Amino acid sequence: MSTRLNKFLADRGVASRRASDRLIEEGRVRINGRVVTDLGTKVEEQRDRVSVDGKPIGGRERHVYFVLNKPVGVITTLNDPEGRRTVRDMLPRGARVYPVGRLDADTSGLLLLTNDGDLAHKLMHPRYGVAKVYRVRLAREPRPDQMRRLSTGVRFDKGLVSGRARARRIDPGFDAIMIELVVHEGRFRQVRKMCEAVGLEVTGLHRVGYGPIRLGPLARGMFRELSDEEVTKLRAESARAGRSAPDGEAARPKSSERPRRPVVEAASADPRARGAPRGVRRGRESRKSTSRPAGDR
Ligand code: URA
Repeated sequence: MSTRLNKFLADRGVASRRASDRLIEEGRVRINGRVVTDLGTKVEEQRDRVSVDGKPIGGRERHVYFVLNKPVGVITTLNDPEGRRTVRDMLPRGARVYPVGRLDADTSGLLLLTNDGDLAHKLMHPRYGVAKVYRVRLAREPRPDQMRRLSTGVRFDKGLVSGRARARRIDPGFDAIMIELVVHEGRFRQVRKMCEAVGLEVTGLHRVGYGPIRLGPLARGMFRELSDEEVTKLRAESARAGRSAPDGEAARPKSSERPRRPVVEAASADPRARGAPRGVRRGRESRKSTSRPAGDR
């Protein structure tokens, strides 16, 4: 069976498809001893010998799925040339998984990691519009018009208008001003930029949901394996999302603004109450974490 090279590498847990493309472009991948740099290259799985940086790539690995409660200050990458703490430092030694999307260094919370290239690709693709749930800690009480603008769409970057979102004021159970924002896109620093665009000052950002997955009572710096039920739900979500992208499928150019949906105040149950953890373990270096994100609970 012939498979595109980046998919072949992602399926074997080498890197995400996009990161695999970079490996190919950098001339680090060989097929049958020959360096290949053409991103369209295909591999005959049964016949071809593939290596990365001289290391042979073996057969398919068992797929594994982790959810990590990323602390503030940890970088969403597997290697940092500057030597900062990365999400790899939080996982079991030797785990060959890569992050599904990213959280900024100053954002905490739910990060999925897997070696299932297909699923990761679908979950990350803007076209699938997987919902991400954020708790946003604010410096001041939001006004109704600001909440409305977050929900209906706001120009948050040059020419980019956010799509369908849900915003509601929540009570975090401690002394803080907090809203929950559900977005279906994942542009760089999007939530912070959206808030800034409507005049809200963000003092903490914490992700508690990704599609059907909830962080649940997972402590900062800890990870757990997804249950079989959660993996099934994730697959169903990616299949469903692929068939009908939501109206806010991706940030739209201002020029293509469409009629907006009425504001809906989200009424989802507290995500912290859901999601039974399986095999909760402490990240290898989680005890080193000293900073506590403002919105992190
Ligand atoms: N939006 C942000 O602003 N930052 C993140 O890390 C994720 C979403």
